[in-house]
Amino acid sequence: MSVDVSVPLLQTTGLSVRYGGVVANDDITLRVGASEIVGLIGPNGAGKTTFVDAVTGFTRSTGGILLDGETVEQHPPHRRRHEGLARTWQAGELFSDLTVTQNLAVAVQRPGIRTLIADTLGRSTPPHETIAAALTMVGLDNVADRRPTELSLGQQKLVGVARALVGGTQVVLLDEPAAGLDTHESRHFGTELRRIADTGVGVLLIDHDMSLVLEVCDRLYVLDFGQMIAEGTPEEIRNDPRVIAAYLGGPDVPPTPDDERTLS
Ligand SMILES: Nc1ncnc2c1ncn2[C@@H]1O[C@H](COP(=O)(O)OP(=O)(O)OP(=O)(O)O)[C@@H](O)[C@H]1O
Ligand SMILES: [Mg+2]
Repeated sequence: MSVDVSVPLLQTTGLSVRYGGVVANDDITLRVGASEIVGLIGPNGAGKTTFVDAVTGFTRSTGGILLDGETVEQHPPHRRRHEGLARTWQAGELFSDLTVTQNLAVAVQRPGIRTLIADTLGRSTPPHETIAAALTMVGLDNVADRRPTELSLGQQKLVGVARALVGGTQVVLLDEPAAGLDTHESRHFGTELRRIADTGVGVLLIDHDMSLVLEVCDRLYVLDFGQMIAEGTPEEIRNDPRVIAAYLGGPDVPPTPDDERTLS
């Protein structure tokens, strides 16, 4: 039997988040490897966005967060982003009055007095090559000067992902990036995610579209009421009685062998 000694790109150990009396994340241990697409699913309010907030530093948490073997839990969000940990926001809209390139440039511009002065003097130089590389990663080479309203919804969603890939991202956490896409667009989106992962990026994908996550993910984790209730391959998750119960709100008992409920 071979032992996997490789260091995952992202590893959380015993990550917990408390909001008052609510334990929104309870002792979450999860890893994402290079070139992996890992799903994080669960019903509304399960704690998926909270997990992304905690990992990227936007909410306080306890427990360990390692990025490529280095501890980052003490680092502020902008430092984690600089170190290669990027996210998208649930319902994260693009700026409609900016071009695609400008939307991506905004994402990497460092806040502060230098940027302000450079902007004022008209000497701000968005890193065009980095931006072009991110657009290439999502298969959008010809939209740099367009505005979001000129793009299809599927393309807009991919620009949203590109925005998180600008500038040497190692792990990207995508919070419902495909929401609102139809079946065809969603399938194309999944293909592009695979291409991104194939470049070595680790992808954590949150989505309610079961056919997308079960089709595109290498492994999945399932949250329910802040707790990890299952982990496994798409096939294992599809047939896991706890997962089926969490999604269908069924009785908290194992299904009988002839129970044919599955996630589609
Ligand atoms: N800033 C906050 N303050 C207090 N409670 C919060 C906060 N953010 C989230 N919660 C609570 O934490 C729990 C987890 O919420 P979270 O948004 O992480 O769920 P989710 O799995 O992303 O749900 P959805 O699928 O609807 O996006 C919920 O009970 C929610 O009400
Ligand atoms: Mg959420």
